[in-house]
Amino acid sequence: MTLMSTNTIGKPVSRVDGPAKVTGQAKYAAEFNVPGLVHGFVVSSTIAKGRIKTIDRSAALAVPGVIAVLAHDNRPHVASEHEKYTDETAPPGLPWRPLYDEEIFFSGQPVALVVAEEFETARFAATLVEIDYKAEEAVTDLDRQLNQAFSPRKKRLPGWDPDPRGDVDKALSRAPVSIRHEYRTPIEHHNPMENFGCTAVWGEDGRLTVYDKTQGAPNCHKYVCSVFGLAREKVRVLSPYVGGAFGAGLRPNYELFLAVLAAIGLKRSVRVALTRQQMFTLGYRPQTIQTLSLAAKQDGNLVALKHEAITIASRFEDYQEPIVPWTGALYHCNDSTVSSKLARVDLFTPCDMRAPGGAVGVYAIECAMDELSYAVVIDPLELRLKNYSDVDQNEDKPFSSKALKGCYHQGAERFGWSKRKPEPRSMREGRELVGYGMATGIWEGLRVPASARASLALDGTLEIATATADIGTGTYTILTQIGAEMLGLPLDKVKVKIGDSDLPPAPVEGASWTTASVGSAVMEACDCVRKDLLKRVAKINNGPLNGVELADVMFVDSEIRMASDPSRSLSLTDVLHGANEPIVSELTSMPDWKAFRRYSHKVHSAVFAEVRLDEELGMLRVVRVVSAVAAGRILNVKTARSQIMGAVVGGIGMALHEETVIDHRFGRFINHNFAEYHVPVNADIHDIDVIFVDEQETHLNALGAKGVGEIGIVGTAAAIANAVYHATGVRVRDLPITIDKVLGLRGTARAG
Ligand code: MOS
Repeated sequence: MTLMSTNTIGKPVSRVDGPAKVTGQAKYAAEFNVPGLVHGFVVSSTIAKGRIKTIDRSAALAVPGVIAVLAHDNRPHVASEHEKYTDETAPPGLPWRPLYDEEIFFSGQPVALVVAEEFETARFAATLVEIDYKAEEAVTDLDRQLNQAFSPRKKRLPGWDPDPRGDVDKALSRAPVSIRHEYRTPIEHHNPMENFGCTAVWGEDGRLTVYDKTQGAPNCHKYVCSVFGLAREKVRVLSPYVGGAFGAGLRPNYELFLAVLAAIGLKRSVRVALTRQQMFTLGYRPQTIQTLSLAAKQDGNLVALKHEAITIASRFEDYQEPIVPWTGALYHCNDSTVSSKLARVDLFTPCDMRAPGGAVGVYAIECAMDELSYAVVIDPLELRLKNYSDVDQNEDKPFSSKALKGCYHQGAERFGWSKRKPEPRSMREGRELVGYGMATGIWEGLRVPASARASLALDGTLEIATATADIGTGTYTILTQIGAEMLGLPLDKVKVKIGDSDLPPAPVEGASWTTASVGSAVMEACDCVRKDLLKRVAKINNGPLNGVELADVMFVDSEIRMASDPSRSLSLTDVLHGANEPIVSELTSMPDWKAFRRYSHKVHSAVFAEVRLDEELGMLRVVRVVSAVAAGRILNVKTARSQIMGAVVGGIGMALHEETVIDHRFGRFINHNFAEYHVPVNADIHDIDVIFVDEQETHLNALGAKGVGEIGIVGTAAAIANAVYHATGVRVRDLPITIDKVLGLRGTARAG
């Protein structure tokens, strides 16, 4: 089974869902209107820890149009066992049960849902619900909990804390050059454009059709059935369009629970839409404190590496992400120890946010490598090349493919790295100090089982169906292209249906695995359709393609053509009409696990950044980023480039802007809005140049594609931090790098 690349694969195809989105035809979860729909507004806890003593609903219920005030004390029955609230992305622990009892675990926890005929009525009445709490002291400051940091007994994935190699402490003590620094990254929130919202449509016999903002309709379907004790066929969850998610929609969020709860309780259709402020009560990227110890010989060869990370866990779940494993795959070092610990605070459980673990862990590693480059007086890029690893030492396996050297060389060339003067504060243009920095990026090239159905109708149109989501990443487009390529159809003859729990199951869209996993399922299902077509061709008496095998033909221009003699051909519709029956193929695709496990599968990048600082005006800008990415075959250079550009913007946000601040007296996020939670906007973004480096991937799947959803953010913050140091001679080791830190007014910044 091969892709011929004569048709659409690799081309810069525009999003097939683009017109629907820009004309407002694409409907999002909180936009599905049905007769009799009522609206729920969430009442959020004002304390971070303690119990609800009493709820006085009387004033809220007195508002005309208010239907109900649901809370733990009057809600419909829900499952009590924590296990029933688990989901396919849940970390080890006891999942939180919304509106279950009087206990409060985090500030902003939903404590009641006011349901009214109109949204504004519900919103107003929600302010009238009087809740009396018994508050306890909440600890939300990670620094206060460091002495209680622990290594979680149950691992989310064992490979994330690889075993130690050699004797790192001995190697550290003997090395001629060593550095040791602490790096800090703050809590960040995903802040997708679309707020979380859910419309639960109450149907006949209590059937529920649920439109939810989620990265995994099947995951939410299972959750709803399990929590509310409903039969599978009674519930359908849909997420046809998702306005960004970045990981915030991997787990079922409470708007889903509350909308379904109210629909069941009231036997009516209910919508629950969260406000931007309430978006800050969901999962978040956890704060990290990381210590990096690196030692090298004078020639720059790494001889010891120690990476210790401490991050946040809630009181009830041990969320873990891969912060520390990356060096083992990036750099050769025989004496290495990495570890990650958790410390509990009174916040909601953190969750995956674009390149979870990688974004923060590689930031620390790549800043430390930069610091080491000054210590051994070797160009930062040269230092990476010197320590380049051809095997993944964590797993002692070769890479399925690794074109990182190409990323380094092509990125440096495009960026003009050779123009960099090695000394910090040595480059200036006009009023501004100029800095060049670089870093490596690495992320998983994952593939997981996924199902898809391909149906070729009598009119020669193809329908692809799979439950996966498109969170803005381009899934609709990529799957359309694969279908079109496999059967030689124009793009407009292929229709893709996704985001629906009734469709063939697929995992959550995340982890950059969708193209490699769901794309493979679509490719294989289409291949079965091709085989079926050939069987039918064989039955056509005296046809032009009699006796040919699949390997002899091409699918192009809606025809099956003999490759060696294109004049011998049959149109797909002719073949289909012969049997007068559509062709439908549905299957589950998975890797050949034995072969799969022989290799380490990673995507890589080299990121180069130029920053400029006007010291007098206190203005720091990232004026240029070059991101050179190796991710196997790029199926669509336009959507892939968009993924990298968007992730680079995320990386700029991580480096300079993003930070959710807690007022520890109240255990509460205080900058829970777009005025005070800063994300980069147009004026912050200048040149972003994306290069896709040629990489032949033959082991992961027949597509030859890895994923590009997350690699663009990994390494970007480090490249910027390193550029800031190069520009200014000031090393800021706690993100975000705000101007007060650069000017030495706050934080850990110090010169040299
Ligand atoms: Mo991604 S953080 O797996 O949506």
